[in-house]
This record gives sequence, C-alpha cells and structure tokens, in this order.
Amino acid sequence: MSTSHLRADGGRLCARLEALGEVGAVLGPNGERGCARLALTDADREGRDLVVGWMHDLGLAVGIDAIGNVVGVRAGTDPDAAPVMIGSHIDTVRTGGRFDGNLGVLGGLEVIETLEQHGVRTRHPVAVAFFTDEEGARFQPDMLGSLVYVGGMGLEDALDVRAADDGARLGEELQRIGYAGSLPCPAAGAPHAYFELHIEQGPVLEDEGVTIGAVTGVQGISWTELTITGQSAHAGTTPMRLRHDPGYVAAAITVGVRAIAQRMGGTQVATVGRCELEPNLVNVVPGAVTMTVDLRNTDESLLLQAEAEFQQLCAGLAGEEGVTIARRSLARFQPVEFDTAMVDLVEATARRLGHTTKRMPSGAGHDAQMLARVCPTAMVFVPSVNGLSHNIAEHTHPADITAGADVLLQVVLAAAVAV
Ligand code: GLV
Ligand code: MN
Ligand code: MN
Repeated sequence: MSTSHLRADGGRLCARLEALGEVGAVLGPNGERGCARLALTDADREGRDLVVGWMHDLGLAVGIDAIGNVVGVRAGTDPDAAPVMIGSHIDTVRTGGRFDGNLGVLGGLEVIETLEQHGVRTRHPVAVAFFTDEEGARFQPDMLGSLVYVGGMGLEDALDVRAADDGARLGEELQRIGYAGSLPCPAAGAPHAYFELHIEQGPVLEDEGVTIGAVTGVQGISWTELTITGQSAHAGTTPMRLRHDPGYVAAAITVGVRAIAQRMGGTQVATVGRCELEPNLVNVVPGAVTMTVDLRNTDESLLLQAEAEFQQLCAGLAGEEGVTIARRSLARFQPVEFDTAMVDLVEATARRLGHTTKRMPSGAGHDAQMLARVCPTAMVFVPSVNGLSHNIAEHTHPADITAGADVLLQVVLAAAVAV
C-alpha cells in the first residue's frame, strides 16, 4: 500500500498539546502559558491519566511497567515483529513549557490516529511510550525511566531514589499516583526502531531558518552535587581573613566553571542551576552550601577534561578558604551517536516532504539516548521560538509542529512497513 501521501493533522495535534498543557498550567506575567508537572506529583498523575485515556480512545493496548513507563501498542500484521516505538516524556521542570517531551508523545498519538483514519495496517506494531522522570528535576538521574527500561540502572536502585525537593522515595510516589505497573522493567525485548520528535530547545534552527533538525546524537552529561561546609559566623564581627565561608566558595565555583567552559570553547557548557545557602540570612556568614554543577560536551575526552578542571578548582578553593567540599554524582552519561542510516532516513524524508534540514547534535538529554543502546534510534527536531526551553515562554509555531509530525509519520511508516 502506498502511504507516501499521508500527512498528520497538525490542528488535532496542537489541540492535544493545548489540553495536556492545561494540566499543571502556569501563567506568566505577560500571558506566557507554561507548565509545572514534576515527575510523580499529582499533576504528573493527572497528565498521565489524560494521555492514557487518549491511548484507550485510539484502541491501543496500554501497559505500565514497574518504573511507571507507559506503552500503548497498535498491533501489526506480523505476530513475530518487534514494535516500532515512538516515545518521549510528559513530566516537565517546575518552570517548563508545554512542548518539551509532550510533543514527542502526542506526535506519536497523532501518527496512530492518522493510520487509523486511513485504515493503514503495518507489518510491525507501532507503540507510543512515555517514560518516567525524563527531566531529572525531581529525581536524579534524568532519563531515569528509559535508563531502567534498557537495563542501564537496576530497578531497585531506581525505586530507592529520593526526591530533591521533599525527600520522597520514588517507589512510594509511583504507588501513590497509581503508576507502579506490573510489566517487567527492563523490558523483555527491544523495539525494532525508536523515533522521538522533540523541540530543539535551542536557537540554531530558528537562527538558520531551517524547519527540521536530523539529530546526529546527544552530548555527554555530567551532573554533580556539592556540599560545601565551613564555619557559620557573625557577619559583622568576623574579619575577612578569619572566615571559612562556603558562600564565597560557591560563588567562586560558579565563576570558575563558566571560565572553564569559555576557555575550552566548542560545545562545552557549564551551569550552576541550584545553590542553597544555610542559614540564608543577611547577617550570617553561611555555614554550608548545597549546589549543583551541570557540565556537557559532545566529546567524551573533553568532558573528562572539564570534569578534571572542575575538580582541581574545588580542591584549590577548599584549601584556600578552609572549607570541606563533598561531591556526589547525580548523573553521568557519555555522548551518544545515533545510527547513521536512521539519521539519513530523517533527513531524506524531511527533504522529500519539502522541508529545509540540518544535521545537528542535541544539547539536551533525551530518552532517545537510552533507547539507542538497544535499537536503531533517530530524533526529529523542530525549531523553538527564541531558542527558549525549560522556560514558561517555550513555544513552537503550529506550522513547524505539523512539519515535524509529518516527518515522524513518514519515518515510522518506513520502519513499520505498511502492508
Ligand atoms: C533534560 O531535559 C536535560 O537535558 O537536562
Ligand atoms: Mn525533553
Ligand atoms: Mn526538558
């Protein structure tokens, strides 16, 4: 059956994005419409329930695994064929947008609905998945659900992870929201192929006037939590030369990791995203600081170099100021390169549909980087307005969403084989 003429219904996809975005909606002072659905909160449960309801409406067989990943499957004609999986996540950061992750999952439902509407059967089943805690904002590491799915982290270790905000145990939060499923995790078999449609979350596509990014891989990620302990003291009476001030050290680390990234150049980035001073009072030299450092690079040896320089920076400052610095790794993932044939498929399909394309690495982490461990994997990027993401002003134009969904539909059809 020829299916090359089939197109997604962008209006229907945007309507689902709007509806899901109402769950945990956050409104900005200038009318920005963002989203706060941290993993395994009540808002996450409500979002999950909505998407699972849509999966049932579309006739998918819905399964939930032991880490709360949800997979809806449309049967294929070959009972022995592994599914072509479309996936992403629906959890968000606390100040998130309505597209990050959600587009990949709802784009998958749009593919299913288009196949249904046109009565297209495929040899391989087509599955739509959303993975638990992709963001890692509440439970670290990020991409936790897909990591466990591919066997990269033990289930029991993952269930034992504590939330950064309220200390809740992940396993208990899963039970509480009703998503501790019965399917085994890691999954019994690997998908035939995995596709993820995602917003770029950066400025490159918009800047270059390109509609579709064919993602070549994902850069390496290194997250560290530092606990700096010094001597809490009176801010007025303690001479500067006699201080052991973790607040100063935290500031120097913030400046220092930025300098490392600037000196190294290339794709190296460095971010201090969380910094908590104790007791956080105007007239008290802090006694302790907890902070996080996020280092990323597309090149593993350069990421190792950045980590080594960061470690030297901490050791030097600890000695100079007379504080102790305890380090805890929150996440460490090497850079990932996607299967070249899959990247070629995305690029060629987008061009056939008349879109401009660019091959590019991803700066953000994605579930796709975990699935790439077990099956051929590809990602389709669409532009982010002003390059913004992890921001309530995150936006992607409907025409670009439609273009991305069309490419997703056609690459899934190429892999799942219409019969
Ligand atoms: C996940 O979204 C990350 O890249 O931090
Ligand atoms: Mn995402
Ligand atoms: Mn994100």
